[in-house]
Order: sequence, then structure tokens, then C-alpha cells
Amino acid sequence: MLFLQLTLLAVLLPGGYNEDKNVPPIFFRLLLISSFANQTWPQNQGSAWLDELQTPGWDGESGTIIFLRPWSKSNFSEEELRDLELLFQMYFTGFTREVQDHVHTMQFEYPLEIQVSAGCEVHSNETPQGFFHVAYGGTNFLSFQNSSWVPSPEGGSMAQNVCNLINQYQGIRDTVRWLIRHTCPRFILGLLAAGKMDLQRQVKPQAWISSSPTASLDRLLLVCHVNGFHPKPVWVVWMQGKQEPPGTKQGDFLPNADGTWYLWVSLDVAREDAVGLSCQVRHSSLGGQHIIIYWGHHVSMNLIPLAVIAPLILLIGLVLWFKKRW
Ligand SMILES: *[C@@H]1O[C@H](CO)[C@@H](O)[C@H](O)[C@H]1NC(C)=O
Ligand SMILES: *[C@@H]1O[C@H](CO)[C@@H](O)[C@H](O)[C@H]1NC(C)=O
Ligand SMILES: *[C@@H]1O[C@H](CO)[C@@H](O)[C@H](O)[C@H]1NC(C)=O
Repeated sequence: MLFLQLTLLAVLLPGGYNEDKNVPPIFFRLLLISSFANQTWPQNQGSAWLDELQTPGWDGESGTIIFLRPWSKSNFSEEELRDLELLFQMYFTGFTREVQDHVHTMQFEYPLEIQVSAGCEVHSNETPQGFFHVAYGGTNFLSFQNSSWVPSPEGGSMAQNVCNLINQYQGIRDTVRWLIRHTCPRFILGLLAAGKMDLQRQVKPQAWISSSPTASLDRLLLVCHVNGFHPKPVWVVWMQGKQEPPGTKQGDFLPNADGTWYLWVSLDVAREDAVGLSCQVRHSSLGGQHIIIYWGHHVSMNLIPLAVIAPLILLIGLVLWFKKRW
């Protein structure tokens, strides 16, 4: 928790984006997923991610890269991008055939799924580091270290056999080494520079509270919604005076289509304890000003008189009506 707050603080502080050691590294990774239902049914999917932002995508039908943002091409030339596209086409077809040819000798079993996570990570001011991990059936299987394939402990003898096989392909090893050591670092640095405006833009959150009854009549479920903010780090808490009440729960960060985020934090509270509760939001876009919304503020101002008056009018009406009838 403390660590989380430290990293958050580092990101929230102006200028702390790159210099601070506590800032987590930024990853650029390709996720390549190959599923084989059986010998004749291979399916390949590919996408590229800058941390949690999808940048280029892969159209499996046409075998082309899709550029999802104006800066998704980094500073690569059209020619360089076409070469990469060709390389991925070769990877998908060659890899598919290789798996199909070796399924039995390597003791794979259908249906099988192979996931590749490859790319590079940038720590503040250091040269980006490349990585290439392969998972089989959802667990680590092998990875690329230095300039050869190394089995993961979880992969057992099966992974060892696969490494023995693919380590024979010197050309592929050289290509992979070049891609993660040279191409990827250049791509991610270019991407961060080209997308800087977009990546570091500050968008203020909107916040509101909703309530719903719970299973027990004397309790309330209050939900503080925070939406449309960028960047992702945000601090949302329920407060009762200066204390954080127990019973809060946080949802997952959900992405909006425009790259901003949505988050909810709920609070399960006894009805009589709900008075004076507030939801507080801190975010780098707010420049040190917090958003504070009080539960029931508007409700108590406007609805309670109405809630009292409406039955009263009804009651008077009824009394008058009965008087008339009798
Ligand atoms: C292979 O799997 C696909 C998808 O599950 C299925 O439609 C197809 O009939 C299977 N083919 C064979 C030869 O089993
Ligand atoms: C990687 O290669 C370097 C030099 O090429 C060597 O010094 C180092 O021990 C190697 N590391 C591993 C894990 O093989
Ligand atoms: C692209 O940007 C990277 C990182 O800023 C730089 O090293 C490289 O020289 C630039 N140009 C090309 C053509 O890659």
C-alpha cells in the first residue's frame, strides 16, 4: 500500500514523470496468440501495447498492421514498417507450420494455445531492455536470453526439447535478438516522443455519487463514480470527517474509448451513518485541488421538504374528502 502511494505520488508530482526512480518502467509489448483447435484450425491474433494503451494492432485476415493512433508509427519510415509487416506475416505462417509439423514429436496436444509476449521496457533514462517470453497452455514455457532460447522451469523436458530444436535456427535467433535489442528500443523511444502530447495529457475527472438499497433495509450501498480522467493514477476515498470508514470496495480501472479511465469505489454503510459522508478525489489534472462530494447534500436540501410536504398534502386532502362525505 505504501509502495502504491509512493509511486502514485511520484506520478502526481509535476516533473516526476521520468526522473524519479520510483516511477514504474514503461513497457512496449507485442502479444501474439496462436490457438490450434486441431491440426487444420490455426488462429493467430496480434496486438501491440504501450503499457495499457493499445497502439498498433494486427489484422489477421489481411496480414497487415493497423495503426490505431496518429503516433502509432513511432518515427519509423513506411519502408521499415512494411518490412516489419512482412516479418510478422512470415512469423505467423512459418510458426503455424512449424507447430503443426512438430505437434507429435514434441508431445503437444490439441487444442493448444501458445502466447508470446515480446518487446522492451524503458526504465527512467536507461537504455530499453528487450524480452521475449513464450507460454504454453497458460504457463511459462521458454524465453529468449542473450541470444538463445532457454526453457522455463515450469516447461520441463518438453520445453527443453523445443529449445533444442529452435536453437538450431541461427537466422531466427539473430533476427529476434536484433528486434528486441535494436528495433524495439528505437520504436518505443520514438513512440514516447511522438505520442508525448497524448500520453501526458491531463484530463479532469467527473465524479458523482449514486446509492442503492442493499439486502438489509437499514443499510445503503453508496457508489462514488469517477470518470473521464487521464493519466490513470487517481486517488479516490470515502471520508467520514477525517476518517476513512470501513466497508469500501474498489472496482477495476475501466478504459473509455478516448483513452481516459473510469473507476468506482463503493461503501456499504448503515443508513444512519451515511450523514456527512464524502467522496474525495485527487488527480494530477486537478492541480492540488481535490474534488469533494458530500452524500445527500442535494437530497437533504431539496428532497426532504418535498418528502414531508407531499404526504402532508395528501393527508389534508384525504381528511377534507372524508369530512365532505360524512
Ligand atoms: C477443427 O476444429 C474446428 C473448430 O473447433 C472444427 O470446426 C473442425 O470441424 C475441426 N476439424 C477437424 C478435422 O476436426
Ligand atoms: C550473455 O552474454 C554475455 C556476453 O555475450 C555473457 O557475459 C553473459 O554471461 C551471458 N548471459 C547469459 C545469461 O547467458
Ligand atoms: C527515432 O527516434 C529514436 C529515439 O528518439 C532515435 O534514436 C532515432 O534516431 C529516430 N529516427 C529513426 C529513423 O529511427
